[in-house]
Amino acid sequence: MSLRVAILISGGGSNMVALAKSMTGDHPARTVLVLANSANAGGLQKAADMGIETAVVDHRPFGADRAAFEAELTKALFVANADIICLAGFMRVLTADFVNQWQGRMLNIHPSLLPKYKGLNTHARAIAAGDSEAGCSVHLVTATLDGGPVLGQARVPVLPDDTPDSLAARILPLEHQLYPAVLRKFASGDETRVNLSRANPV
Ligand code: GRF
Repeated sequence: MSLRVAILISGGGSNMVALAKSMTGDHPARTVLVLANSANAGGLQKAADMGIETAVVDHRPFGADRAAFEAELTKALFVANADIICLAGFMRVLTADFVNQWQGRMLNIHPSLLPKYKGLNTHARAIAAGDSEAGCSVHLVTATLDGGPVLGQARVPVLPDDTPDSLAARILPLEHQLYPAVLRKFASGDETRVNLSRANPV
């Protein structure tokens, strides 16, 4: 029986599409739900076009009451009978209570070489620091923001005339390789690390 994966998004959902497309054939998991915290998330239509169940839990009516928002998330995840959550550009901070319920079963992709640059504006910070290398990380989610065990990383060079946008554009295609590669191993019970670079693609 396949493991059931819910993908949580806030935006265009390009990582969600890469994940969903990867879960076919002998893959040990299938996408059962794409859930967004805004009806405006562009990825919702992409998921619907792929025949995937979608749901929206808008965070705004809940204001500062994160627990109430998360109670609605939990309902949707329960209905979908999800085994694993993949956060894919999901721009809400989750409480420790929610994270702990999914401990060991929730992954995230973050656009930096963790532990560097947790939080936002990662590409600008890598450029400002003069880093020669940047990339992305897939990690298990723990109650420490962007702080859980890293399961895979992909690296690219930072070029002298890079802007945050050009660096993001160089990294995004690797996100689309890394996240499915990590998920496939993770769903197979293998948590050994995946290392990708443009010289070492999957
Ligand atoms: C990705 O760069 C991801 O690393 C970051 O947000 C972006 C989401 O893009 N957290 P998409 O919605 O998957 O296209």
